[in-house]
Amino acid sequence: MADQQNSSKSIMYATVAVAILLMVAIVPFTIKGDMAPVAGSSEDAEVRVQPVAKFELKVAGAADAAASGPKDGPTVYASVCSACHDTGAAGAPKKGDKAAWAPRIATGNDALYASAIGGKLAMPAKGGAANLSDEEVKGAVDYLVGQAK
Ligand code: HEC
Repeated sequence: MADQQNSSKSIMYATVAVAILLMVAIVPFTIKGDMAPVAGSSEDAEVRVQPVAKFELKVAGAADAAASGPKDGPTVYASVCSACHDTGAAGAPKKGDKAAWAPRIATGNDALYASAIGGKLAMPAKGGAANLSDEEVKGAVDYLVGQAK
C-alpha cells in the first residue's frame, strides 16, 4: 500500500518535472521570437511600428480629405450611394430609372435632400456615411436627380 502511494507520488513528481522541463525548453524559443526585433532586424522593427504608422497615415488621410475640399456629387455617389442605387438593393430607386424617380422628383429637391441626409426607410442617414457633409449629400442627390431626367 505504502509502495503504491509512493509510486503514484513519484509519477506525479515526474509529470511536474517534465512539465517544468518543457516550459524551460520552450520559453527561450518564445523569447527569442519576441526579442528578435531588438537584435536590429529592420523588417521586424517595421512590423512593430506599423500600428502607429497606420494611425498616422489615417490622420494624414483625414487631413488630406479636408485639404482637398468637399467631394463632388458623382464622387460621393460612386463611393457611397452606388452600393444601393446602382443595383436597386433594398428597394432603392435605381440611378437613371426615370419611372422610379419621377414621383420622388415631384416631391421637390428639399424633400429629397431631407430623405438622403436624414435617411428614409431602408436608406440610412447619408447613405450610412456619417462623415459626409450635408452639402456633399446634396451634391449626390443632384447627381441622381440629373441622371433621371
Ligand atoms: C443602404 C442602401 C442605400 C444607400 C447606401 C443609399 N440609399 Fe438612397 N435610398 C435607398 C432606398 C431603399 C430608398 C428608397 C426609400 C423609400 O422606400 O422611399 C432610397 C431613396 C433615396 C432617395 C429618394 C428619397 C425620397 O424622398 O423619395 C434619394 C434622393 C436618395 N436615396 C439618395 C441617396 C444618396 C444621395 C445616397 C448617398 C449619399 C444614398 N441615397 C445612399 C437606399 C440607399
